[in-house]
Parts: sequence; C-alpha cells; structure tokens
Amino acid sequence: MLQTAALILAAGKGTRMHSDKPKVLQTVLGEPMLRYVLEAVRPVFDGRVLVVVGHQAGMVEAAFPEASFVHQEQQLGTGHALMQAMPALEGQCERVLVVNGDTPLLSEDVVRHFVEASEGADLAFATIELDDPAAYGRVVRAADGSVRAIVEAKDYDPALYGPEPHEVNAGMYCVRLDLAARLLPRIGNANKSGEYYITDLISLAVAEGCKVQGVQCGRDESLMGVNSPLELSRSEEFLREHVVDGLLRSGVMLHAPALVRISPLATVEPGAEITGPCEIYGRSVVRRGARIDSHCVMRDTVIEAGAEIRSFCHFEDAHVGEAALVGPYARLRPGAVLEEASHVGNFVELKKSRLGKGAKANHLTYLGDSEIGAGTNIGAGTITCNYDGKHKFKTTIGEGAFIGSNTALVAPVRVGDGALVGAGSVITKDVPDGEMGIARGRQKNLPRKSV
Ligand code: UD1
Ligand code: CA
Repeated sequence: MLQTAALILAAGKGTRMHSDKPKVLQTVLGEPMLRYVLEAVRPVFDGRVLVVVGHQAGMVEAAFPEASFVHQEQQLGTGHALMQAMPALEGQCERVLVVNGDTPLLSEDVVRHFVEASEGADLAFATIELDDPAAYGRVVRAADGSVRAIVEAKDYDPALYGPEPHEVNAGMYCVRLDLAARLLPRIGNANKSGEYYITDLISLAVAEGCKVQGVQCGRDESLMGVNSPLELSRSEEFLREHVVDGLLRSGVMLHAPALVRISPLATVEPGAEITGPCEIYGRSVVRRGARIDSHCVMRDTVIEAGAEIRSFCHFEDAHVGEAALVGPYARLRPGAVLEEASHVGNFVELKKSRLGKGAKANHLTYLGDSEIGAGTNIGAGTITCNYDGKHKFKTTIGEGAFIGSNTALVAPVRVGDGALVGAGSVITKDVPDGEMGIARGRQKNLPRKSV
C-alpha cells in the first residue's frame, strides 16, 4: 500500500458566506467546520495531515494550534492550493488524499472507504448523486462509464458535454504524488473563474492514459460542501438531528428533541435528562441521572451524576459535582468547580473558584479566584474583589464559615474555618478561624427633624 498523507484545503475566502471570518472557521454545532474534517481525517492518516491556509491564515492557525499548515499566499484556486503544498508533501508520502475543508459532515468511515476504494488508481475522486447538481463540478463519463473529466458548473456547456449529469464531484481526491507533480504545472486558468482548478487533473490524467476512477458514494450527505449560510444551516441541522437521534436511541431523555443542540464531541450518558431547549457544546460531559432544565448553554463542562441544573444557566469550562444544584440564572465561567451537593443559585457568577462540598452561594454573588471550604454559606450579594485593575488576587474561605450578606472581600484575603463575617462588611484583613470579622460604619439613630 502506498504511503499516503492527507491535505485539507482551507485557504479560500468563502465569498458566498458574506462574512469576514474564514469559511472553515464558521461553526457547526459550536465547532469550526475544519475541526470535523480534521477529526475525520486524522485517525486514518496517523498524524500525516497538512492544512492549506491563506485567507486570514493567522486566525485558522490560532484556532488549531496542534495542526500543521502550508501557506497559499494568493488564493488562485484549488489546483494552485495543492501546488503550494507539493514541496511539503514530496519525500513524505507517495500518494495524497486531498479534501475540501468545507465538508463538516465528513466521517472517518467515509474517508477510510474512499481511500480503500482508491487503491490501485493513479487518481481517484469521490462522487455523489444530487437531484440538483447546483454549483458542484459535474462528472463527465464516456459511454462505457469511464471518467473523462470534471467540469465546473460555470464552465459546463451541454453542447460539449451532453445533458447535465446528476453525478457531481464531492471534493475529495486521492492522487499519486509523482502524477500530481507532473500534471499540476500543466493546469491553466482559462476558465470562467480565472482559477487553477484541481479538477483539471482528471482530464489531464485521462489524456495520459492513467487509471482514473470516480468512486461513487451515492447520496451520501457526509460529503456535502458548505459555501453559504443556507448550506451551513442545512448541514448543521442534518448533524444536529443525527446526534439527537443517537442520544435518544442510547437512552438519554430529551423532552424537546427538536430544540436541543448537542455537539457530536460531547458525551451525554443514558439516563441523563434534558427537559427543554439547550445547547451543549465542545467536549462537555453530562452524566447519568443529571437533569438540565430548559435554556441552558454549556461548553467544555462536566455535569456529574445526579446534579440538577435549573433554567437559564451558562457554563464554560466548569465542573459541577454530584448532586449539586445550580440556577436558575447562574453563570459558571472557566475554572468554576462545584463539589458534591453544593448549591449555586440565581444571579451568581463563579470564575476560577472552587465551592466545597455542601457549600452554598444562593443569591446575587460574584466569586472569582477563590477557594470556599465545605459547608460554608456565602450570603446574598457577596463579592470577591479579586482585581485591582492590574493583577488578580485570591480569596480563601475555610470550612463551615458564614459570610453575611452584602460583603466585599478585598483580595488577597482569608476568612478562616468556622469564621463569621458581619453583613455589609468590607473585609480587607484576614479573619482568623472561629472569629467574627465586621467592618462597617456603626448605625446611629437620631431624632427626626421636626417639619
Ligand atoms: C469545489 C470543486 C467542485 C466540487 C466542490 C465540492 C474545484 C475547482 N471545484 O468547488 O468540483 O464539486 O468543491 O464541494 O475544486 N480553497 C483553497 N484555495 C483556493 C481556493 C479554494 O484552499 O485558492 C479551498 C477552500 O477553502 C475550500 C475548498 O478549497 O475549503 C474548495 O473551494 P471552494 O471554493 O469551496 O470550491 P467549490 O466551488 O465548492
Ligand atoms: Ca465548496
């Protein structure tokens, strides 16, 4: 078997998206399209994967720090993109799988199947059947069924090629590197787009008598390209339904399956329950017996077994422990960790803070850069003043402490185990274990002025 590497084409502008963001960074269920293509390709090629970037290359590189990139300074077409990658490929492999970066539904299975089916061909490409060939490249075959060419939609002339076929080019190719090296310099740009098309390799290879194969993948949606907001939303809906269907079949209780958006990268265990519209993105994990009420949004968050999340909560990179209770209207930002059976109530925000076992912060509170011991009660309106405009400082509160309402904890500061802070205090000095800290103006009662 020839040593094969993969090349993902992701340098294009994506003009039809009408967005400043590079097309491959447009998201499908919370992930940039390119992530799906990388995930589908990586396991098949064991790390030998290159990505061609050009338009807003820096943004794409920043989004995938672990990937390897090749630059296409000017986006002169898909053939030109492959040409730019040739120096990086030569010496690394004997054959290259080239795939468009705008195919977010691509799966590992489809890639494997295609690579296997391409075995023995000098040049192979995947085709799909569409009722409306739309803007896809048309596959032109001879009477005996052998491939003659791919002709782009704009350049298709029925007088030359016959009636429009329903078989179109899916944008995935497998080509011997020596053949690509020989043919690429012969691709021209005398076409309606003025671009160097990778698809021109097909007719050139046919003319040389090479073995060229169109691998028919039928009506496989996983090869749909995304070029416009309409196509993006169709692909996203297709994937969304697929994920939801799989979860329901596995035993997840979804009460509003049409209204949940769950990333295929997330894990929701059988026996978890989601009662209404929700968004669960990234590598989130929702364990068995956890319940999430409607209108919660989370990314890269773990909800442990038996936790209860009430409506309208936001989570990012947070961890909610077993049987914890959150919301409604809570916000857990990166580094928020709720230990077992802790409670976070309405209008409470946590960032880089740990709430110990059974601790409670039930109302109107900000806890940033803090450590709160088990069983401690944080009163309504407590604020950790963790930032002096330049630096962040830590607040530590021991176990079994009680922080009175409307307290400002000016960090760095420590409130000890079993300590109590009087309501309305501005705490700037440590409160030792078991002591009471109170820091507020004394109340004076004066006679009312007579009118
Ligand atoms: C391409 C194919 C078409 C096929 C369709 C499948 C060509 C000429 N046409 O058309 O036959 O049916 O995909 O979806 O290839 N890109 C670069 N550099 C460039 C131009 C594009 O890296 O200079 C990248 C884009 O970022 C994109 C991919 O190549 O990920 C495909 O480009 P796009 O412009 O979307 O091609 P289509 O018109 O969809
Ligand atoms: Ca495309």
